[in-house]
Amino acid sequence: MFRLDGKTALVTGASQGIGEAIARLLARQGARVVLAARSLDKLTALAAEITAAGGAAYPLALDVSRAETFGERLKSLPEDFAGIDILVNNAGITADNLLARMSLDDWEQVLRTNLTGAFALSKEVLRGMMKKRWGRIVSVGSVVGLMGNPGQANYAAAKAGLVGFAKSLARELGSRNITVNVVAPGYIVTAMTDKLPEAAREELVGQIALKRLGTVDDVAAAVLFLVSEEGGYVTGQALNVSGGLYI
Ligand SMILES: NC(=O)c1ccc[n+]([C@@H]2O[C@H](COP(=O)([O-])OP(=O)(O)OC[C@H]3O[C@@H](n4cnc5c(N)ncnc54)[C@H](OP(=O)(O)O)[C@@H]3O)[C@@H](O)[C@H]2O)c1
Repeated sequence: MFRLDGKTALVTGASQGIGEAIARLLARQGARVVLAARSLDKLTALAAEITAAGGAAYPLALDVSRAETFGERLKSLPEDFAGIDILVNNAGITADNLLARMSLDDWEQVLRTNLTGAFALSKEVLRGMMKKRWGRIVSVGSVVGLMGNPGQANYAAAKAGLVGFAKSLARELGSRNITVNVVAPGYIVTAMTDKLPEAAREELVGQIALKRLGTVDDVAAAVLFLVSEEGGYVTGQALNVSGGLYI
């Protein structure tokens, strides 16, 4: 189950964290994976690791906040990796501040990277999916987009925007056998949460029904389900992977 042999996936923000875990898992399940982010050195090292383990991966330098470059960047893909069947819009940034102190630049940069990037890249790969009458688009949102968070009005608006975008695209593209969904992680163990003082970490855990932080693999597993053949009857959904932080 959940094999992806013969499929080509593009994962943004694949150079570390959740995106790296998603890319590794999709490759392990048989997909050829285009690894996209700005840090080409990290992507090149990851592609070499995946290839050495018997998978297929290609590093692509791509800045998701620069939609005007997408066409040319995708054209540069070698033939084996062109023709994207599965798009995972995972790249994301934060620029937190209370609204009174949030600059227009903080607002625009987060919206451009987290939401407009997903719009423009989906548009870029869509034609191929429509021709094949098969496609999967998953965007990595956040529970913050479902429940809100003080100091993250820009981030929450972008993540909530991904849900509205997915629901509308799901309706536009369902007849072409293309599904569009969001995976909304809660608190995930990353370099950032590792640095939290013990007391702050315990307070976070106290809010979670399952009494643990999530892992990058918890998120990757949810993405795998949605992009697989087996997940093909699920579309227009925001799948909350938060251990019950938000129910
Ligand atoms: N960690 C959590 O607890 C959590 C919770 C909920 C949702 N999320 C979401 O999950 C996603 C991944 O989070 P993470 O924790 O793994 O983040 P992370 O460790 O900060 O990694 C972010 C990734 O996005 C890439 N990226 C950032 N800006 C980019 C741009 N302009 N163009 C291309 N790539 C860009 C980065 O690569 P380069 O710097 O090399 O470009 C990196 O690979 C994000 O969308 C985040 O909002 C995370």
